Amino acid sequence: IARVAVILAAAGSGSRAGHGLPKQYRALAGKPLIRWTVEALRRHPQIGDIVVVVDPALAAVAATLLDGTAAGPFVAGGSDRQASVLAGLESLAALAIPPDLVLIHDAARPSTSPATVDAVIAALERADGAIPALPVVDTLKQGGGGRITGTVPREGLFRAQTPQGFRFPAILEAHRLAAGRLLTDDAAVAEAAGLTVALVAGEEENFKVTSAQDLVRAERALLNRLP
Ligand code: CTP
Ligand code: MG
Repeated sequence: IARVAVILAAAGSGSRAGHGLPKQYRALAGKPLIRWTVEALRRHPQIGDIVVVVDPALAAVAATLLDGTAAGPFVAGGSDRQASVLAGLESLAALAIPPDLVLIHDAARPSTSPATVDAVIAALERADGAIPALPVVDTLKQGGGGRITGTVPREGLFRAQTPQGFRFPAILEAHRLAAGRLLTDDAAVAEAAGLTVALVAGEEENFKVTSAQDLVRAERALLNRLP
């Protein structure tokens, strides 16, 4: 059975959500957001190490908020998400026995289901990578300055979520090659290296907390989750 590690990207500053403390460390429904995220992942029995990539200035805060969840090690992140993920991958590469598979996940997504994790892991039997995604349902407009300039067909377009799963050696090499390119998800890094990436069904509940409004929406959802 494959050994599965997680890289939890938690080194962002949460500027769009506002407030002093980055969103992943804020309390929602009585628990830090990042703790909800780790507990959601821990519901899947195949997940082993959870490497938490953090801003070094907040490493002690993160460790305290995750006390008792067996998350760690804590690794220093970079100035953009891609650099943070690469730091996490390098820490796994330095292990005596690196994992077979790695799931790269946003700390700001607290409501990932075991079914989604299952689907991503299962798809890695037939592809180098796999991501959960949802079909775009809104009509897409091109425009600027308050005017429409065109309509983009939404057929075949998806909204990418995390956890994004990969065969570990393949994504490590892809990330090393793509360093500094500012790609916005790990599937894009994999695509740039020519890896095959499968799409599996995402879930609306697995949304990323981005804005202050999302914090309210997430809290409402988490209040309904069983401990
Ligand atoms: N992230 C990271 N390292 C960075 C930037 C982001 O590990 N240098 C993480 C965030 O902590 C978050 C995830 O990547 O869990 C998704 O990024 P995003 O939602 O953009 O979070 P932030 O970058 O923190 O927020 P913002 O862009 O609003 O500043
Ligand atoms: Mg960001």
